[in-house]
Amino acid sequence: MNDPMESAEFSRDPYPLLAALRARGPVQRVRTGKDRTTWVVTGWAEARAALADPRLSKDTARYFADRPSGRDLAPAVSRSMLATDPPDHARLRKLAMAAFTPAAVGRLEPRIRQIAEGLAAGLGQSAAAAGGPVDLVEGFAVPLPIAVICELLAVPEGDRAAVRRWSDDLFAAADPDTTDRASHALAGYVAELIAARRTAPGDDVLSALIAARDAGDRLSEHELVSLAVLLVVAGHETTTHLIGNGTLALLRDDALHARLRDDPGLLPAAVEEFLRYEAPVTLATFRYATEPFELGGVRIGAGEVVLVSPGGANRDPARFDEPDAVRLDRSGPGGHLSFGHGPHHCLGASLARAEARIAFEVLLARFPGLRLAAGGRQGAEGSDGTDGVTWRRTRLMRG
Ligand code: HEM
Repeated sequence: MNDPMESAEFSRDPYPLLAALRARGPVQRVRTGKDRTTWVVTGWAEARAALADPRLSKDTARYFADRPSGRDLAPAVSRSMLATDPPDHARLRKLAMAAFTPAAVGRLEPRIRQIAEGLAAGLGQSAAAAGGPVDLVEGFAVPLPIAVICELLAVPEGDRAAVRRWSDDLFAAADPDTTDRASHALAGYVAELIAARRTAPGDDVLSALIAARDAGDRLSEHELVSLAVLLVVAGHETTTHLIGNGTLALLRDDALHARLRDDPGLLPAAVEEFLRYEAPVTLATFRYATEPFELGGVRIGAGEVVLVSPGGANRDPARFDEPDAVRLDRSGPGGHLSFGHGPHHCLGASLARAEARIAFEVLLARFPGLRLAAGGRQGAEGSDGTDGVTWRRTRLMRG
């Protein structure tokens, strides 16, 4: 039997399946292969609890050590903070934390805006030249986060196309050989970048990481490479999808579009709601139980895999009124789980929020008449048939 989450249907619209699972219970066993099952968590309270539960490990290397046929992450990031448990996790995360605090991100904002303005100007020129629609994702939502993280990590402009290709392949390649090639290429590239920065440090995050690691020596060279690779890849596609999905949500709702255009002060709330409404990470939070325990009324066995679904949790009616509607008046403690929760809560959350807010500010100001191209790419694989939008074909991401 096939994994229902691998279906084209799920890429097009994951919410009916996630809602059906949740209706049976917040934690459900799903058959994901001939003799493989996975627990999927779609209840908000249970998802939040699971993300912070120390009995659920993210140490993929340990998990797959005695299952050589499988693998969760490419080698280049399999020893990063994303795949380690406390206490190692804190050691790996601490070094990078300073670069991504709200204050550090605040200092980046003028540069993020400059990049966004430049890309928007390019879009405007293409639209004028073509006299027709332009691709907002390729021309704006993809290059903005790549430019920002590559500048932070001192990746020269000429190398960015290759970096993008490798990071795409790292998470979404169809076969493990392509993933491995990309993983090696990216790790090799980053190791060279580190060597170059070590002899000629600059005013960038990579140079700061190298200096911190060389002074304290709390990280092996391999761990430093893994950290830098993770930073390069973690924020691309996710932030692209936040910008793309958010733009789609506002273009599908004229009243919302007008409100945001007239009052950009509402954008921080809108970004939070876009994150909730279309979680860029639908289902990509691998964890496994190190001991048997109970979650949401079911007994999870030692060694069993648990996937927490931000996309499912964010639409739980027990937590959110009218979960399938975009509303800017949601408030109160404990919102969406799009950035995860607990020790692995997204390190780049402040950066992603700032990039998205600035992206919408620039788009709405520069293109007051922005609208969906009629027909778009209707009928393409993944198109949901309503306004010709093509969704990315992967169960992990939503974009
Ligand atoms: C972790 C989502 C942007 C860096 C995570 C996790 C999620 C997530 C769900 C937790 C995974 C888990 O618990 O298993 C997102 C989304 C983003 C985004 C939706 C954009 C809208 C970024 C950016 C960066 C970044 C821009 C750049 C630095 C990281 C890192 C981790 C992480 C380093 C691992 C943290 C840890 O293991 O301690 N992200 N992310 N993310 N994210 Fe993000």
